[in-house]
Amino acid sequence: MAGNEIHVGAAADIAVGEATVLPMGATGHWDDIAVFHTEDGGFHAIDDSCTHGDISLAEGELEGLEIECWLHGSRFCLTDGKPQCLPATEPVGVHRVEVRDGEVYLTIVDRKQG
Ligand code: FES
Repeated sequence: MAGNEIHVGAAADIAVGEATVLPMGATGHWDDIAVFHTEDGGFHAIDDSCTHGDISLAEGELEGLEIECWLHGSRFCLTDGKPQCLPATEPVGVHRVEVRDGEVYLTIVDRKQG
């Protein structure tokens, strides 16, 4: 394990189309972090709170590389964090995820508060 990596868990434990949430107490980040396993086989990590309201994006609907907030329907791109439609206008923070030997590791790269 290198640098400031955080061990998320085994890749096989996060089903495709699902997310696991790392609570802020476990990472030291200002927000919980959601790690998604997308249908292309990739893993993506973003700040879990919708920038429009205090809603967990991990509980939303994953479509391709976008996560839809279940409350008002804003969709966020998992690769750049930008909202794709209203009502959210601010991006969520995006973090780095690597998979090695079947294990998922997170590096927090965007510390600004959304
Ligand atoms: S709380 Fe997420 S779009 Fe309104």
